[in-house]
Amino acid sequence: MKNVLITGAGGALGKACVTEFLKKDYQVIVILSPNKKLSYATSSSVSIYNTDLMDEAATNTTLVQVIKDHKTIDVALLLVGGFTSGNIDTTDGALVRKMISLNFETAFYTARTIFGQMAKQPNGGRIVFVGSRPALDAKAGKGVLAYALSKTLIFKLAEILNEEGKEKNVISSVIVPSIIDTPDNRIAMPKANTGKWVKPESIAEIIEFATSEKGSAIRESVIKVYGNS
Ligand SMILES: NC(=O)c1ccc[n+]([C@@H]2O[C@H](COP(=O)([O-])OP(=O)(O)OC[C@H]3O[C@@H](n4cnc5c(N)ncnc54)[C@H](OP(=O)(O)O)[C@@H]3O)[C@@H](O)[C@H]2O)c1
Repeated sequence: MKNVLITGAGGALGKACVTEFLKKDYQVIVILSPNKKLSYATSSSVSIYNTDLMDEAATNTTLVQVIKDHKTIDVALLLVGGFTSGNIDTTDGALVRKMISLNFETAFYTARTIFGQMAKQPNGGRIVFVGSRPALDAKAGKGVLAYALSKTLIFKLAEILNEEGKEKNVISSVIVPSIIDTPDNRIAMPKANTGKWVKPESIAEIIEFATSEKGSAIRESVIKVYGNS
């Protein structure tokens, strides 16, 4: 049985990924925020750890424990992230730092330990990051400056890790969803045409395929999942 580590598992995309990977018979290991429990039922048992992933030392300690408990991490989905709006007038340094901490540092701290572990494993491993469209497309980034800037770093990290992981069979990809059809987005944008949004379940299926044996022929490390938008 393969092991998948999922951060942000309490979120909308996290829930869909936990469900999808359990369906495909993975042992699912999740990291939730401190004191949080999974807020949804799962078809089989999930191994739960709690950590503030913005805290580098705490993240490393937890991941060392995860590796001790589970021996290998075949796939890691680094899904933690968050959104804020604002243009150059309304975005100050504090907001940029907050977004970098949430969207980049959480992924970076996790990837540091996980990459090292995967590099030691005979079969290597797969790391999946989550980017965002505004980080790739300036038009989409106009009103969401701090968010776009923070996600931009994810692409460069994955690119460099791919160079470093070549000889070790550690492959990193970035999934780039457009707006996801989540309960939070439906509340925030009540008048939007939700038919154009991409379902978290569709993204989860794509991630599972891309990290499976069948997906090993995919050479594109940036996977855009824009639905109908
Ligand atoms: N939703 C969209 O339309 C959209 C579009 C493009 C990209 N994305 C990206 O896709 C990913 C998932 O999005 P989503 O909508 O599923 O997000 P979400 O529902 O807000 O879930 C994010 C999860 O991250 C966890 N988290 C936040 N800070 C943490 C920390 N310091 N330590 C540990 N866990 C922490 C949250 O847990 P707690 O709440 O318990 O702290 C939450 O469960 C994110 O990276 C997001 O930027 C989303």
